[in-house]
Amino acid sequence: MGKLTIVDHPLVQHKLTLMREKETPTAVFRQLLREISQLLAYEITRELPLTHKTINTPIEPMEAPTLAGKKLALISILRAGNGLLDGVLELIPSARVGFVGLYRDEETLKPVQYYFKVPDAMSERVTIAVDPMLATGNSSIAAIDLLKEAGAKDIRFLCLLAAPEGIETMHKAHPDVEIVTAAVDKQLNEHGYIVPGLGDAGDRMFGTK
Ligand code: URA
Repeated sequence: MGKLTIVDHPLVQHKLTLMREKETPTAVFRQLLREISQLLAYEITRELPLTHKTINTPIEPMEAPTLAGKKLALISILRAGNGLLDGVLELIPSARVGFVGLYRDEETLKPVQYYFKVPDAMSERVTIAVDPMLATGNSSIAAIDLLKEAGAKDIRFLCLLAAPEGIETMHKAHPDVEIVTAAVDKQLNEHGYIVPGLGDAGDRMFGTK
């Protein structure tokens, strides 16, 4: 079974509660998302491989730890993924950034790709895909299919909220992908929204309806 990490840190939980409240204004929602994304990114990067290099402190040389390998690939699943992107980039400023755009075909109900641009050498990079809501999981799974086709091997999925249904589907489709989230809610409703959730994450962060 795939790995699931729920970040139960009090600051994360407090900020998430503020985001859930329907009266929270767009600007505050966006700021909270930025802050929470950094705390989630801290957790998802906990086991990044380290190497050592020789540096000189003002006192003496030392073998100091530094991140190993190629720069991370940070992939935003459009459009709501962009709300997590800036905060994560503040924590990992040298990450390379990619975008995956998918829409749902109303006849087949399958996700269709409309945009795909990712860094080179994906097979050599740790890849973090970001999307705030893991609901049915269909678009996230399709995005990860595309990342694997592009060569990505070590993929982690960062979201704010997940539904049990989405976790199960994702784990079945991609058991190798670790999911990191702030909370797992009760269920999906008949419209595919997470319950109790926070509503439409894209609309709330961009002020659309
Ligand atoms: N996408 C959202 O923005 N909200 C949900 O509850 C489910 C999917």
